[in-house]
Amino acid sequence: MPVITIDGQEITVENGTTILEAAESAGIDIPVICYHDATTSNGLCRICVVDVNGGRLLQPACVAGCQDGATIETRNERVERSRRTILEMLNSAVDLSEAPEIQAMMADYEVDTQRFPDARPREHKVIDDNPFYIRDYSQCVLCWRCVQVCAEDAQYTFALTFGERGYDTHITTTFEVGMTDSPCVFCGQCVGVCPTGALKPKVQWGLEQGLSPDEIRQATRTGKKRKT
Ligand code: SF4
Ligand code: FES
Repeated sequence: MPVITIDGQEITVENGTTILEAAESAGIDIPVICYHDATTSNGLCRICVVDVNGGRLLQPACVAGCQDGATIETRNERVERSRRTILEMLNSAVDLSEAPEIQAMMADYEVDTQRFPDARPREHKVIDDNPFYIRDYSQCVLCWRCVQVCAEDAQYTFALTFGERGYDTHITTTFEVGMTDSPCVFCGQCVGVCPTGALKPKVQWGLEQGLSPDEIRQATRTGKKRKT
């Protein structure tokens, strides 16, 4: 079984243990965004990077396995700089106002919220096309969790995918059809794993919009857009 040194603690782990799991067992907190216990780790967001043996590239802790003899630093200057830059880029493009965990990371890593003043925020209209939840992809960090729980990780419904490429990449349905025309069964698992306000139950959204109970009732029946 691999023996590693993580933040000065020598620990023995099972074969196949990721650095994130090893850190958790050692009581060390590593920030995550795309990682979720219920989904397959893809190493997409890179917020969990750590320094392994002082190597040239930082390693994503949620997917990198523990190698015998490795010396791992979960938070040093390189790691902090990398995490801070990721958060600054995210903040420049995405509305993070309803992502408290990411906001806490931004405070922890002393993010400069004006680092990229010329960046173009990703703007999407609120999509209200079904009786159960709204989608606001201007708040989406593309963590992929919703796509994964909708697919092989849980529901096997495959209602969600991505559209466009590069900066315009966004989560959508196949052929961008409305949710009621997609295979979606409205299980709500995507809403449950979303780390931001991008997916939200319609009742909660209606209350936040100041809709009356009658208006909310109407909205949850018809899926018609009310206020955006
Ligand atoms: S909608 Fe939510 S869960 Fe889906 S990719 Fe965007 S932030 Fe992640
Ligand atoms: S949490 Fe590890 S890459 Fe996103």
